[in-house]
Amino acid sequence: MTEATPVKMPTLPDAQTVTEVKHWTDRLFSFRVTRPASLRFRSGEFVMIGLMGDPDPKTGKQKPLLRAYSIASPSWDEELEFYSIKVQDGPLTSKLQHIQPGDEIILRPKPVGTLVHDALLPGKRIWFFATGTGFAPFASLLRDPQTYEDYDEVIITHTCREAGELEYGRELIDDIRQDELLAELIGDGFHEKLKYYPTTTREESAKIGRITDLIRSGEAYEDLGVNPINPADDRAMICGNLAFNLELKAMLEEFGLEEGANSKPAQYVVEKAFLD
Ligand SMILES: Cc1cc2nc3c(=O)[nH]c(=O)nc-3n(C[C@H](O)[C@H](O)[C@H](O)COP(=O)(O)OP(=O)(O)OC[C@H]3O[C@@H](n4cnc5c(N)ncnc54)[C@H](O)[C@@H]3O)c2cc1C
Ligand SMILES: NC(=O)c1ccc[n+]([C@@H]2O[C@H](COP(=O)([O-])OP(=O)(O)OC[C@H]3O[C@@H](n4cnc5c(N)ncnc54)[C@H](OP(=O)(O)O)[C@@H]3O)[C@@H](O)[C@H]2O)c1
Repeated sequence: MTEATPVKMPTLPDAQTVTEVKHWTDRLFSFRVTRPASLRFRSGEFVMIGLMGDPDPKTGKQKPLLRAYSIASPSWDEELEFYSIKVQDGPLTSKLQHIQPGDEIILRPKPVGTLVHDALLPGKRIWFFATGTGFAPFASLLRDPQTYEDYDEVIITHTCREAGELEYGRELIDDIRQDELLAELIGDGFHEKLKYYPTTTREESAKIGRITDLIRSGEAYEDLGVNPINPADDRAMICGNLAFNLELKAMLEEFGLEEGANSKPAQYVVEKAFLD
């Protein structure tokens, strides 16, 4: 006689199971969860995820506590990856930072967002500009074959306060350069199109400074060995804190690029990495 394996019943609405958790610093972690079979998304989009909130003191009822999260994995991945801040008094992340493999999270399967290839007109070179956890949508797009099919050159810049905050991105770029599956999917040597430009602002690292200042001074172009940004060749996606997004947006407009949207593709798109 064979015994049936007990099937674990989900206890949360829209539940997905955590499969892996990695802590990068005391403020940053990443995790992977199962992917709903029906979930289709475009690399760069975000979904609402969360946990059940505390019981209401009067009724004892619990409501889902949800926040927007960029999907960091590419659309072909069988699991979903997220890259997260830990805000010590944050309603969600004060709890979410303690998840372990086997735990459940809530994931509303309705992906949306502007950081998608569909919102850009064809170009020769694409810039992904990130600060902090704004790297997450680009972790998805950098593993999407379309990124390398659509562009001759792919430049990812990541500005953080401290060097440790660059590690998730650095490891991901290293993995992309060695990934045999991606090379099979996209074509051998695809990663030669990829240029990675990490910078820090409050701690020593190989490159110090805000990317905005480094572009304005021309230092970034020199370091990367590329021509200045121009509207004929360049397309861009921006994801960072509000001040960064606004400053970079103004800079790109100055260079002659226009903002695009899903409904009206143009030369660059922007999304907030978090609400201030
Ligand atoms: C479109 C969109 C996509 C997002 N994608 C991600 C993502 O991929 N990863 C992620 O960690 N967060 C992301 N966020 C932020 C996320 O929705 C939550 O704000 C975050 O998880 C903290 O939740 P909380 O309830 O703990 O604190 P909240 O009450 O939401 O935030 C408290 C404060 O913490 C700070 N803060 C919040 N999020 C961040 C952050 N990511 N980086 C630095 N400071 C922050 C802000 O000052 C904020 O006012 C995204 C937000 C938006 C609008
Ligand atoms: N990162 C930490 O170590 C740390 C620790 C404790 C608490 N916090 C708090 O957490 C919140 C988020 O911090 P964070 O470090 O994740 O994100 P952040 O404040 O959004 O900063 C991320 C990076 O963006 C840069 N930046 C800010 N404005 C810019 C602009 N206009 N143009 C170009 N670059 C710009 C910052 O440079 P500058 O450094 O030059 O501003 C920094 O390198 C803040 O409220 C902070 O006080 C952060």
